[in-house]
Amino acid sequence: MPGDFAIGIHDLSVATTQYVLTHDTLAAHNGTDAAKYHRGIGQRSMSVAAADEDIVTMAATAAAPLVARHGGDRIRTIVFATETSVDQAKAAGIHVHSLLGLPSATRVVELKQACYGGTAGLQFAVGLVHRDPSQQVLVIASDVSKYELDSPGEATQGAAAVAMLVGAEPALVRIEDPSGMFTADIMDFWRPNYRTTALVDGHESISAYLQAVEGVWKDYAERDGRTLDEFSAFCYHQPFTKMAHKAHRHLLRHCGYDADEGEIARAVGRTTAYNAEVGNSYTASMYLGLAALLDHADDLTGQTVGFLSYGSGSVAEFFAGTVVPGYRAHLRSAAHRDAIGRRQDIDYAKYREIHEYSFPADGKDHPVPRETTGPYRLAGLSGHKRIYEPR
Ligand code: CAA
Repeated sequence: MPGDFAIGIHDLSVATTQYVLTHDTLAAHNGTDAAKYHRGIGQRSMSVAAADEDIVTMAATAAAPLVARHGGDRIRTIVFATETSVDQAKAAGIHVHSLLGLPSATRVVELKQACYGGTAGLQFAVGLVHRDPSQQVLVIASDVSKYELDSPGEATQGAAAVAMLVGAEPALVRIEDPSGMFTADIMDFWRPNYRTTALVDGHESISAYLQAVEGVWKDYAERDGRTLDEFSAFCYHQPFTKMAHKAHRHLLRHCGYDADEGEIARAVGRTTAYNAEVGNSYTASMYLGLAALLDHADDLTGQTVGFLSYGSGSVAEFFAGTVVPGYRAHLRSAAHRDAIGRRQDIDYAKYREIHEYSFPADGKDHPVPRETTGPYRLAGLSGHKRIYEPR
């Protein structure tokens, strides 16, 4: 543990979208056996952003309860991780900073490395708090995952934000040293600046992920990390929930253990409840897994959770976190279940209309229809500027 005080996640809050498309609806449209989605990839539905929602509105919705509970005075830094940025220059976190009325004496920055960015944000935050434990860092991971219509990746879309307050003597999870790291130059999934949908070599991306699992574990073990049997659960990046099972099976076999399916389900099964309903939320996905674990598991006090964060391209990191006594009093389980449960079911035609829409790039005024019932909305585009407002 860095220094003589613990550092970690003090509070965590999840937000997602107004709309949801079920995999039954998608399957009925494209003639796929719904079992492929439900059992094959482990997905039930995907969050779909309304016209007036995006990574900023989800991020502000996730972060607002943290600021309401703890105040914003100790937040000196906002790190916003995303791979579906709304601007090539301005950090999306500045819009969140403004919507939440945080003090001007704050540094705000955006991070990108595919789905890994949220973990980079968390680790950078740990470093900042180590330097000055009186400060807190607001780490936000927010993404809208979008693939081509009728592509294999389409069934793995989704959208969500997770906001985490990182500080000294955290109330939820202490983050430990060491980390195991891995980087490899692989084109498994990417999105050139001129595209709104991601490109992916689906099966190659699964192999790349599994290669990274081996890589991070090798580095973690060489740095005298914990042994596998010291962990009571594992939070993996979940592009689809079955990927967590695949990854853990691979890790067990790699380490010479029997890959018993019951054991795999015990290790990762409690982390998948939210991701199965929300879909891939890229940077937020692993932390949505943590939220599900904390919200659904029996008492985890003192237990150690393994985190495996993967971002295509590729960068991965493995680290441990230990659940803090009394954590249950600080959870937001009811709000998380409500955010997922209150989404409005849409039919295929509405989903397709949203998927195909893109803002005109003419710099004129383009107000956005009122659709979200969340606390913040994208009001429109004017002079090429995005305008956000409380609803
Ligand atoms: N009933 C039950 N199961 C069925 C079934 C049926 N009728 N039909 C197929 N299945 C099973 C298959 O056996 C397979 O399971 P296994 O992998 O355990 O064998 C599973 O359903 C998927 O079937 P396919 O492999 O045939 O599916 P696909 O070729 O259409 O594509 C995919 C699957 C590659 C994951 C695709 O959805 C995709 O490209 N997704 C986007 C990329 C992605 O998520 N990659 C993950 C690693 S990269 C990463 O993690 C970063 C990131 O966030 C993108």
